[in-house]
Amino acid sequence: MSRSTLAVSALLEDYLRQNTLREPAPLRELREETASHRLAKMQLAPEQGALLALLLRLIGARRYLEVGTFTGYSSLTAALAMGENGRVVACDASAEFTAVAREHWQRAGVAERVELRLQDALRSLDELLAEGAASTFDCMFIDADKPAYPDYYERGLQLVRQGGLIILDNMLLGGRVAEPAPGEPAGVRVVRALNLSLRDDERVECCLLPVGDGLTILVKR
Ligand SMILES: C[S@@+](CC[C@H](N)C(=O)[O-])C[C@H]1O[C@@H](n2cnc3c(N)ncnc32)[C@H](O)[C@@H]1O
Repeated sequence: MSRSTLAVSALLEDYLRQNTLREPAPLRELREETASHRLAKMQLAPEQGALLALLLRLIGARRYLEVGTFTGYSSLTAALAMGENGRVVACDASAEFTAVAREHWQRAGVAERVELRLQDALRSLDELLAEGAASTFDCMFIDADKPAYPDYYERGLQLVRQGGLIILDNMLLGGRVAEPAPGEPAGVRVVRALNLSLRDDERVECCLLPVGDGLTILVKR
């Protein structure tokens, strides 16, 4: 037992990744390729991916929705974890980033399980609602522009079924949520306020894990 959360050094992170992580080969290849991308730090941490895969299997997920696809690590994680009956709806506005994702979905043999909606994500979520997709997703993963997180979350509450998951990344923002600073980006203020409002939101169960940059896991009541 422990009364506090361990600070993970670079050495310990290396140990974790090299000695405890079961990362499927297609994900490892994608991670290695993305490492040289100018925005590589946007990619999901592999231990976050392992947790996402575990949660999807735990709830027997078949329909997964994400906001923020980048080069495809989280979407490929979900497609592989859910197996051949799983379906992924991936929302991103960048044709450039998602071209890499498309290539890796293809290489991993899951491309036909993934639908990419290439435009502003809020518009995609509203279109899904208009198409009658309310309460049809088992899990929604939010990993995009921070100022829009509260809007993504509210749409997610409509799109995810009761007992389903909404997972939000970057909820610690490198520790900046704990250190209000003059002139900080709007996204930091938004995430700080969202952490507080999720704590008190009766519509969900809530747990923020300090894995990667902070992963909030919500279960819709
Ligand atoms: C942190 S990255 C996502 C990382 C990804 N989940 C992964 O596993 O590697 C954020 C992504 O959100 C996308 N994005 C940012 N704002 C957006 C918006 N308003 N609508 C759609 N996509 C957006 C960016 O193009 C970028 O690919």
